[in-house]
Amino acid sequence: MEIKKVGVLGCGLMGSGIAQTAATAGFEVIVREVTDDLCERGFAGIEKSLGRFAEKGTITAEQQAQIRGRMTSTTKLNDLADCDIIIEAIIENLETKRETYRQLDQICKPETIFASNTSSISITEMMTATSPERQQRFIGLHFFNPVPLMKLVEVVRTILTDDDVYEQAVEFGKSLGKVPVRAGDKTGFIVNRLLVPYMLDAIRALEEGVGSIVDIDNAMKLGCGYPMGPFTLGDFVGLDTTYYIAEIMFNEFREKRFAPPPLLKRMVLAGLYGRKSGRGFYDYTKDAKNPTPMNLL
Ligand code: 3HC
Repeated sequence: MEIKKVGVLGCGLMGSGIAQTAATAGFEVIVREVTDDLCERGFAGIEKSLGRFAEKGTITAEQQAQIRGRMTSTTKLNDLADCDIIIEAIIENLETKRETYRQLDQICKPETIFASNTSSISITEMMTATSPERQQRFIGLHFFNPVPLMKLVEVVRTILTDDDVYEQAVEFGKSLGKVPVRAGDKTGFIVNRLLVPYMLDAIRALEEGVGSIVDIDNAMKLGCGYPMGPFTLGDFVGLDTTYYIAEIMFNEFREKRFAPPPLLKRMVLAGLYGRKSGRGFYDYTKDAKNPTPMNLL
């Protein structure tokens, strides 16, 4: 089966980025959100991102219009019936995901590949909500924020994934302009397995007075050539998301390095989620481009 039509579930930061990337690569894309308002918000973000590529000359105004023309949105799961692959990027809640997959399994054609963009939930646990035939066509496709720019996609297989389906998913990742890496269905896959303990260690270093927010960020940015220091990155990813992933990883492996530090928990409880809420390790409310470090200790 050739992949021509891509269904994307969820039009938040990741879903909209995945939809934009697939449409840019020439696929027909349909995005499903739960309300029209959420569809509109997601598509406004896509317009903005495409506008940035057009401004830079990476794409022409004509290509921008063509990419936009390949994308539609819907609030009905039934509209995804004829998709060749479904990429799910909805809320990180196992039950919600399982229920959505259960319904889609009835709606989609037997050949449709089901993929999840989850960062930390087990693919196997989602897969078992579908029929035995579909379980062989169930994989993880984990993208990175901002999806239109980040070159990596983790292609995740379970114990039951069919070899041909897996290879097709790897090729699909390439056709999106990404570099696919192969990973097994182990919580955190490759990137979060290594990234999450690093981010949590940075918070522990801050708690222990090793350095300030700015100094630790500068140390890793300028000393290691990382594009962002760990606190800027945490604010960018979302501290609620980081906390949630760490909790899942800690519950899975029961290893101290995945345990969320008390400061992270308190920040999340206090609504300091990072950029999206205006404050995290930095305060973005006055000048988002030049945020000031928060006094957290
Ligand atoms: N769409 C289009 N263009 C965009 C864009 C978007 N969404 N976001 C940024 N850009 C463009 C900007 O317009 C800018 O263009 P220019 O060079 O022509 O001015 C260029 O990208 C660089 O952007 P900025 O000047 O704003 O900032 P940076 O140079 O710092 O680049 C970044 C931004 C690419 C996000 C870079 O900082 C970076 O790579 N950061 C690390 C991101 C990262 O690690 N992501 C992974 C997070 S982990 C994850 O997602 C997994 C999950 O499971 C937790």
